[in-house]
Amino acid sequence: MASKTVYLNGHYLPLEEAKVSVLDRGFLFGDGIYEVIPAYHGKLFRLDDHLQRLENSLAIVRITNPHSRSEWQAIFAPLLDADKNQYIYLQITRGPAEKRDHAFPEGVAPTVFVMCSDIAPFAGAQTGIKAVTLDDSRWKLCHAKTITLLANILHRQEAIDQGGAEAILIKDGYVTEGAASNVFAVINGVLVTPPKSNGILPGITRDVILELAGKNNIAWREGLIALDELKSASEIWVTSSTREIVAVIELDGAVVGNGTLGPVWHTMNDILQAYKESLT
Ligand code: PDD
Repeated sequence: MASKTVYLNGHYLPLEEAKVSVLDRGFLFGDGIYEVIPAYHGKLFRLDDHLQRLENSLAIVRITNPHSRSEWQAIFAPLLDADKNQYIYLQITRGPAEKRDHAFPEGVAPTVFVMCSDIAPFAGAQTGIKAVTLDDSRWKLCHAKTITLLANILHRQEAIDQGGAEAILIKDGYVTEGAASNVFAVINGVLVTPPKSNGILPGITRDVILELAGKNNIAWREGLIALDELKSASEIWVTSSTREIVAVIELDGAVVGNGTLGPVWHTMNDILQAYKESLT
């Protein structure tokens, strides 16, 4: 099979030949940010929203955006395949320094890496998943999409070790988000998701769902969700660009709702699929 082509610092090259320095700040410190942008049949989904979030993440960690929006789009284009559903993975680190020092190095250009992968069908999308609640051990920069993901990794793995597919994180008694997803719950017939803050990533899928709920007369609100409210919700979903809307049918070993994909999930999933098709 022909090797996959990736983009690194201005060049397109085979994945095997894409190499960065061991002194790269991303490798040494996790000093960088990333984006994940889905593309359906070669068309990038909500590109402006993703590039806006990229700009926000870069500003928070104080890395200058190396490219304009049109330059980013031009970089992504050759990696996309019109016959597939894929996602762009884009990572920018503070670059390779001369020595390991926590303070920012001077005169170093950021490392820019982009690859495109197929969106693998996620089995749980059609069946629902089991999830567990865990104490959110993360920091106050969760609104930046940083590559510093060790806490998220440990949360996801703990969920898997407990027989689940996602961790729903709880801080001070309230839901923040999933290890790699945002969280929605249907409470007294209303679709609820936690408000944006520095405790969650402002998910693009989350925004799309709220927008589509508003347009389709589905009652929704942004609001804090206490753990006991989550536990008695009739539906729980976790959402992300690569898995879309995934229903949680079991939480901490207890059945959610009637233990199957709920009616609001069905409605919203149909609306989202129709919306995606309308764009391609
Ligand atoms: N993660 N919250 C966290 C912590 C995430 O990692 C993600 C997505 C989301 C959902 O954001 P969006 O709807 O924009 O994908 C929320 C991506 C997919 C990842 O890390 O691979």
